Amino acid sequence: MTEECITIFKGDTSCLKNRIPMVDRLSKEFYEQEVKDIFAKSWLIIGDSKELANKGDYFVTDVPPLKASLIVTRGEDDKVRVFRNICRHRGDKLIHDASGCAKFFTCKFHAWNYSNTGKLVGVTDQGQFKDLSKENLGLIEIHSEVWEDIVFVNFQEQPEQTLKEWLGDIYNQYTGFSANRVKVADHRVVVNTNWNLAVNAFCEGYHNLFIHKNTVPDYQGSPTNPHRHRPYLEVGEHFGRYSAPGNPNHKPTPAEGIFYQHSRPMFPSFAHFDMDALPIGVNPSRFKQWAFDIVHLFPNTVIGPQANTNSIMMFWPISHEKTDIRVMRFSYKTDKPSDRIAQAHSLVRNREVLREDLATMETQFQSIISNGLPFMHLSEQEQLLQNHYRAADDMLKR
Ligand code: FES
Ligand SMILES: [Fe+2]
Repeated sequence: MTEECITIFKGDTSCLKNRIPMVDRLSKEFYEQEVKDIFAKSWLIIGDSKELANKGDYFVTDVPPLKASLIVTRGEDDKVRVFRNICRHRGDKLIHDASGCAKFFTCKFHAWNYSNTGKLVGVTDQGQFKDLSKENLGLIEIHSEVWEDIVFVNFQEQPEQTLKEWLGDIYNQYTGFSANRVKVADHRVVVNTNWNLAVNAFCEGYHNLFIHKNTVPDYQGSPTNPHRHRPYLEVGEHFGRYSAPGNPNHKPTPAEGIFYQHSRPMFPSFAHFDMDALPIGVNPSRFKQWAFDIVHLFPNTVIGPQANTNSIMMFWPISHEKTDIRVMRFSYKTDKPSDRIAQAHSLVRNREVLREDLATMETQFQSIISNGLPFMHLSEQEQLLQNHYRAADDMLKR
């Protein structure tokens, strides 16, 4: 029997607007303001702490809007820290490779040496430096916190809110969700669009009936939910989330049918989930035909919990007209070949769907900057977009 779908709306919607003027928002000047008032002040997701399983493990990443290169490392004391990837002598980039494991980091230029807890431990020919105090020349640390294996940073000298305060109610709702998950895909693409439009493309399900009709024609919706309304939709100060309705009558492709006879269901099949095993934040309304959730963590990340897989998508502005999209997908650990094949199949289907999403955001950007659209009109099912612009305007004090 198909469950009827009436959207449960939650959260304060009083300040949301359903008409958003966009032309100015996509300008260079507006972007410069967003960098100062949003990116320099928000808690931002920069990676996955599971990549730092052992003491000394590190990876290097960058935060394009703030033009920062960062070292994310687990020190000898087991603490995860984030440092600017800058040598304190004359400012050369300290680490040039993408990842590794090291007790010490040595600058290639004049060989100053730092511990993986950030202390300056060696200065070559130190006698030639007058008044140099190694204690004050450790690597520059950026405020960071790890939440459910996700590494966040905040570039403020003293963050106005802790990550717990920033995330609010949802902070305690995903406990243990990413445990026993491993990364199964990591890809990146630079798109000619504004970052707001890129985030928006993944924050509503209104489009999937149309834009994804060739790749995953029947993965969502049902005869009693033909427009594929979200069963649950919630907005908060710095987040928005919804649950997507899986189609109980989804017809698997022949390959999908074989894979899932011998493995667990994953996108685009959604059946037989053990809801009791999910943390309360995942599928919050416990919708029976649940497919997956979308959680927009303002400003520029979307996480996608599913029962047997999950994703992190980061949308980094490089400029007002270029966005670096980074996608990481995770799934349960397994050595069974049938599981690995099913996971690979799901990843490929996901990537096909992602390409369809990418295509719209470039053409949409071109149309809007041609001054051809006074307003975007947003429906109730696009409430996460309304909330995105509300959160942005709050920080921009507009
Ligand atoms: S710039 Fe690093 S040691 Fe000189
Ligand atoms: Fe999509």
